[in-house]
Amino acid sequence: MTQHKIGIIGFGGMANYHVDCLKQTNFKRAAFKGVYDLNPEKYELARKKGLISYNSFDEMLKDEEIDMILVATSNEVHKELVIEALEAGKNVICEKPVTIHSSELEEIMQVVKKTGKVFTIDQNRRTNKDFVLMRRKVEEGLIGKPYIIESRVEGSRGVPSGWRTIKELGGGMMLDWGVHLIDQLMYMYDEKVVNVYCNMFSLHYPEIDDNFCLTMKFESGLIAHIEVGTNNFIVHPRWMVMGDIGTLQIDDWNCDGEIVIWKDRENQWEEEIVYTKAGPTKTMAPRSEKSVERIKISEPTDVVDDLTVVYNQFIDAIEGKAELTIKPEQALRVMKVMEAAFESNEKSEAIKTNI
Ligand SMILES: NC(=O)c1ccc[n+]([C@@H]2O[C@H](COP(=O)([O-])OP(=O)(O)OC[C@H]3O[C@@H](n4cnc5c(N)ncnc54)[C@H](O)[C@@H]3O)[C@@H](O)[C@H]2O)c1
Repeated sequence: MTQHKIGIIGFGGMANYHVDCLKQTNFKRAAFKGVYDLNPEKYELARKKGLISYNSFDEMLKDEEIDMILVATSNEVHKELVIEALEAGKNVICEKPVTIHSSELEEIMQVVKKTGKVFTIDQNRRTNKDFVLMRRKVEEGLIGKPYIIESRVEGSRGVPSGWRTIKELGGGMMLDWGVHLIDQLMYMYDEKVVNVYCNMFSLHYPEIDDNFCLTMKFESGLIAHIEVGTNNFIVHPRWMVMGDIGTLQIDDWNCDGEIVIWKDRENQWEEEIVYTKAGPTKTMAPRSEKSVERIKISEPTDVVDDLTVVYNQFIDAIEGKAELTIKPEQALRVMKVMEAAFESNEKSEAIKTNI
């Protein structure tokens, strides 16, 4: 087996995670060889991890032993670096968001066509256990036909300093987290997105969206409601899914959760009014426990959730063994939904889409 050699451009937090992950999992199909970063202070850590450093990106691209490039810089330079690497004859994996605008990704896709090289994106959250658990339970049909999926990630620590707070460097929560949460649901539902409505907030970082709520509608009528918050001192559940015969909730990344399914409709209304603490209501009065079934759900133990999944599909495609599972065309649709979200926020109206 030939071991592929990877060169890294941009040796920050995420690139280090890639290196550590392949080392810890004892990944054999590829190994990191060296790095190039604008900031030479990064090289000491690189050396400690057994990597060489290059004087320029060009020098790294001229290293014939390297056949794969990881682009893990801030977002504003992804496009030019990916194109340079493809044109130098390398296969490329780029961190998310793949680019800042869909037009830049379209340019990359032209170069992929021209060079015949393999290009993929680190949309690694398709294997997050909370997502896989939600998907499995929904696909088992336990809650019937879903009509609203709510997906939220929320914290209260604000946005990390640096490029993430600067618009022109690709900062903001839509490009940071939105890209993952939209990708998860567009990967789960192979359907057109026909409507996008989004509100963004700049609570503590004037240049960028530090919080947003997005509603997108699939062709079948399914609604996905996605919220990202960096100012939530109390958080919602990670997932809530409303189906026509039940509801699913997953609390957080630990995957503790519950499904409640209706056993008996209990919709035979009595004549008398029902009194709750909030006053009389028959519609919203709690139902009896005997009329529902409660099923506890928990972390799936058979799911591999690390970067080896992303690298395996990349290497399979390079070796001609299988098609990519993380395809540029999929990332392009996600980019277009995000652009519709920005447009919706700017115009304060829902945007009809055909994505
Ligand atoms: N997939 C995920 O779950 C995930 C998680 C975190 C970050 N990311 C992505 O990874 C990328 C990097 O994020 P990070 O948190 O590691 O950022 P970071 O700021 O820690 O590191 C970025 C590095 O790139 C270097 N750099 C910038 N421009 C460069 C250039 N033109 N040439 C060479 N080096 C350059 C910087 O000096 C820095 O060392 C971003 O695209 C981010 O969105 C993905």
